[in-house]
Amino acid sequence: MSHPRFCYYFVLSSSRGIFAMTIGLFYGSSTCYTEMVAEKIQALLGADHIHLHNLKQTPIQQMADYQILMLGISTWDFGEIQEDWLANWDAIDTIDLHGKVVALFGLGDQLGYGEWFLDAMGLLHDKLVVQGCQIVGYWPNEGYDFETSKALVDDGRFFVGLALDETSQYELTDQRLAAWLPQVLAEIASL
Ligand SMILES: Cc1cc2nc3c(=O)[nH]c(=O)nc-3n(C[C@H](O)[C@H](O)[C@H](O)COP(=O)(O)O)c2cc1C
Repeated sequence: MSHPRFCYYFVLSSSRGIFAMTIGLFYGSSTCYTEMVAEKIQALLGADHIHLHNLKQTPIQQMADYQILMLGISTWDFGEIQEDWLANWDAIDTIDLHGKVVALFGLGDQLGYGEWFLDAMGLLHDKLVVQGCQIVGYWPNEGYDFETSKALVDDGRFFVGLALDETSQYELTDQRLAAWLPQVLAEIASL
């Protein structure tokens, strides 16, 4: 059986300029769950194609260096933005992100915090849309159990990015990533 990375290389190499481009993955992570997902994404896509930046150590202005961004954000304390994103929240508005292609992934706990599931991902999405980013990677909300979320698009059928729950549905993370990453790369290739 071929290695799963083969599939990603195929999508990358078959998508005109994407192969030559490096994706910048920026994340904030308080207890390392988002960080572990970022590392999985890098392992799947290959370190040549994706550079990881923990916002605890990286100036957020480096987002300007990439045309394609993946952004990982967790939600804390009843719908609040993860602390490293929060520390950079106003600075995001000062970076020229217009026209950048952005895929989001969010981590939360649908059973413990079902009234605020992944709210921070929704707040980040809304900010980026205002700045003229092109969002890819919308993800169906089937298979989750929560009350409300600011990370749903208007008709409520899709999340604004990949919805991950390492607390209640950790066993689904790998398969969700395996479905979402080719989707994102295909969407980027078709732009
Ligand atoms: C005190 C506390 C508050 C939390 N608040 C929320 C919340 O409001 N909404 C949500 O979806 N998840 C919430 N979570 C779940 C975290 O988002 C989840 O544990 C996530 O995996 C943390 O990722 P990180 O370690 O990368 O920051 C909370 C967790 C804790 C411990």
